[in-house]
Amino acid sequence: MKNLKAVRVSEHVYWVGAVDYNCRSFHGYSTPRGVTYNAYLIDGDEPILIDTVKAAFTQEMLARIADVVDPARIRHIISNHAEYDHSGAVAEVARLSGAKVYASAAGIKALTAMYGALDYVPLVSGQAVTLGGYSLTPYATPMVHWPDNIVTLGKIDGKTMLFSNDAFGQHFASSLHFDTQVDLHDVLTEAKKYYANIVMPYAAQAAKAVAAAKSLSADIIAPSHGIIWTKHIHDIFALYEKMTAAEKVDKAVVVYDSMWGHTADAALTVGAQFEAKGCATLYFDLKENDLSDIVTELLDAQYLAVGCPTFYGTILPTVAAFLAYLKALKPAGLQYMLFGSYGWGGGAIKELDAALSAMGYTHIEDMPDSAEVY
Ligand code: FEO
Repeated sequence: MKNLKAVRVSEHVYWVGAVDYNCRSFHGYSTPRGVTYNAYLIDGDEPILIDTVKAAFTQEMLARIADVVDPARIRHIISNHAEYDHSGAVAEVARLSGAKVYASAAGIKALTAMYGALDYVPLVSGQAVTLGGYSLTPYATPMVHWPDNIVTLGKIDGKTMLFSNDAFGQHFASSLHFDTQVDLHDVLTEAKKYYANIVMPYAAQAAKAVAAAKSLSADIIAPSHGIIWTKHIHDIFALYEKMTAAEKVDKAVVVYDSMWGHTADAALTVGAQFEAKGCATLYFDLKENDLSDIVTELLDAQYLAVGCPTFYGTILPTVAAFLAYLKALKPAGLQYMLFGSYGWGGGAIKELDAALSAMGYTHIEDMPDSAEVY
C-alpha cells in the first residue's frame, strides 16, 4: 500500500491505525460517519505497538508502521482488548516480528482461543512494566467493554498518555485525528452514540473507569476508535459523567410500527400528550429508523411510548427486535406507556407491558395504555 502515513502524536508516539470510511454498520450499529481502528506505535530501541486493527485492515496498519519503523522490529504488543476490531492483526504482527503479546489474564484467554499460542505475557492491573525504557501501567476496566479490557498509561515525551481502548471512543472516520482539528459537537454526538450502543449496559463499571481516568491526569487520551483527546479531555469526561449517571432530560421517545396506519396515527395522538407537558418529543417509525439511533435517544430520555398493532395475537417482528435491543442495552430509568390497534383480536399491549415491566421500567401513572379497534 502506497502513501499511507503514520500520524505523529508526540515525538515518539504515532497513530498507525486504519480508517474505514465506508463502514455503515459496526456489528449492527449504524455508523454514518464511518469507523476507525486506532493502533499506536511507540518508537524506540524496542518498538511497542498498542492494539491493532480489524483483520481486513492489517496491510493498512503495517504500511503506516513501515512509515516509521520496519514492522519486523516490533518487540512488544500491548493488547488492551481482545475483541476482533482491535486484535485482528495481533497474531500476524507477533508472528512476523516475534514480539511478545501483553494482555490481561482474561485477554490472554480470549486471544489464545481466537489466535492460538503466541508469546503471551500477563499484565496485572496497577503494576507497571518497563518495555524498551518506557514505563507503562495497565489498569483494568472490566466490561468497558469486555471482561478483559485494560487501559494503558505511560509518561512518554514528557506527556501523560492514556491509551483508553473502547472508553472515550467514537465512530468517526476522518483523515484528521485530533479533537483540535474537527468539530467538537460532531465528535461528542458520536461519543454519545458509541456509549449508548457499546458501553451503556455497564454504566457502573464505566463510572469507575471514568473516575480512575480522571485521577490519572492524562495530557492525551488516545482511544481505539475515532478522535484523540488533547484539548477537550474535560468535555469528554463531563459527557461520560452525565451518561454514566444516566442524567435525564425532559424528553419522550415514541417508537412504533404500524400495519394499516392506525398505530402511526395513534403515535401522534400519544406524542401530543407529551408535547402538551412541554417534553421534547421524538417519533421513530421502526420501519424507517435504526435501533442504534433510537437507543441513543433513550439514554437521556425520561419517557418511552411504544406502539404496536396486534399481529396474530402477539407483536410485530420489528417491535420484538426493538424490545430485544432495549433489553440488551438497558437505558436506565424509563417510564413507559403503550398504544396500539387491532382488528379482530388484541394481545400486543399485554405482551409489551409484560416485557417492559420485566425490564424494570415503570408505567407512567397518568397515561393509561390504549388499544383501539379498527
Ligand atoms: Fe472496539 Fe469492544 O471493541
